[in-house]
Amino acid sequence: MTAEQQPASQRQRTDPYVGQYAERAVGMVASEIRALFAVAARPEIVSLAGGSPYVSALPLDAVGTMVGQLIADHGDSALQYCTAQGDSGLRERICEVMALEEVVAHPDEIVVTVGSQQALDLLARIFIDPGDVVLVEAPSYVGALGAFAAYQADVVHVAMDDDGLIPDALEEAIRRTATAGRRAKFLYTVPNFHNPAGVTLAAGRRHRILDICHRAGLLVVEDNPYGLLGFDSDPMRALRADDEGVVYLGTFSKTFAAGIRVGWASAPAAIREKLILAAESAVLCHSSFSQLTVREYLATQPWLEQIKDFRELYRDRRDATLSAMSRMMPPGCHWTRPGGGFYVWLRLPDGIDAKAMLPRAISSRVAYVPGTGFYADGSGGQYARLCYSFPSPDRIHEGIRRLASVIETEIQLRDDFGPAAGIRRPI
Ligand SMILES: Cc1ncc(COP(=O)(O)O)c(C=O)c1O
Repeated sequence: MTAEQQPASQRQRTDPYVGQYAERAVGMVASEIRALFAVAARPEIVSLAGGSPYVSALPLDAVGTMVGQLIADHGDSALQYCTAQGDSGLRERICEVMALEEVVAHPDEIVVTVGSQQALDLLARIFIDPGDVVLVEAPSYVGALGAFAAYQADVVHVAMDDDGLIPDALEEAIRRTATAGRRAKFLYTVPNFHNPAGVTLAAGRRHRILDICHRAGLLVVEDNPYGLLGFDSDPMRALRADDEGVVYLGTFSKTFAAGIRVGWASAPAAIREKLILAAESAVLCHSSFSQLTVREYLATQPWLEQIKDFRELYRDRRDATLSAMSRMMPPGCHWTRPGGGFYVWLRLPDGIDAKAMLPRAISSRVAYVPGTGFYADGSGGQYARLCYSFPSPDRIHEGIRRLASVIETEIQLRDDFGPAAGIRRPI
């Protein structure tokens, strides 16, 4: 057996370089559910796990023709290095996209990144020293937690409810941090159609959150991949629209194509300069080909119509999810009702642990992500994230049916045997 074929846990034990890694690399371990995800990709399993956009809804032939034309017409620049800040034509277009959420930005304020994930990594790199406090929602996006953990941040979760981040809880977290003689480096928030919670920060809370952060001198990082994917209303006004000090992160992953890997940060001048320097040291510059593909897509294709199509498609899938859940989920289950985006956040009945239940769900041919991945402290065991963006409504219906039946069996086990059945107490 080669080292690659060994299970991750065993590989780590036999890793000959273990004493040589930097301290920050020690915390970088594969998630324990990664192996289950490989199984979840099998066609017989309905995966409500991964957050993949449904790219098959794109006009693939038209995009293919456009890419061919791009190389024929602009191959000399599309296949060449570019500046680390990114293509200026694309940055102009990005400002038009941000204007849909009432942000007035200048192309000079934009730094193009490899998806918004790289923007998170670059921000962590320029702001976080080991042990620095970062405030995030409870729960929070797993990729952001991974980026912050890689720089050894001390992540503090702040409570949310159905209207998003709770202002009083934020004030309290800031106060507690200060009382401990520390200062948070920034607040990381996903205000629209939250991943994983599916909730949206209410309009009435937005000024209050900005005001609290302003008074505390706390930088706000607004991560907004789903803002244009609302089902029932026009896009909300971005936090960045009311405060030029906010660092805004955007991406084309959900509104065009995740595989293109183009996102951006809009940031105040000083932060922007650091981001550009950090990006230079990471990648020299980003893919010119990807950037020009997005630029051409925005210039030549009906991208606003395409976003409308995506919204309708995801709305149907959200509806399929919620109606199946309300018909089939056993008593004691509670869930959020997203107005856009990809995710429903499910609270399981007391005494049912989502991670312990996952192997049994996989055996019943349905997959989800246990809530623990969305908390830096490993709490959240009673929760599961269900993603409806990829499976068809029929498959969603079948997946929810299977999941509901697995939960019913868990409830039965809990009632018959209690914690002795291997089911942990609620958090
Ligand atoms: C909240 C949030 N932020 C950032 C990302 C990263 O997206 P990308 O790097 O594809 O732009 C995702 C992807 O699912 C996300 O849900």
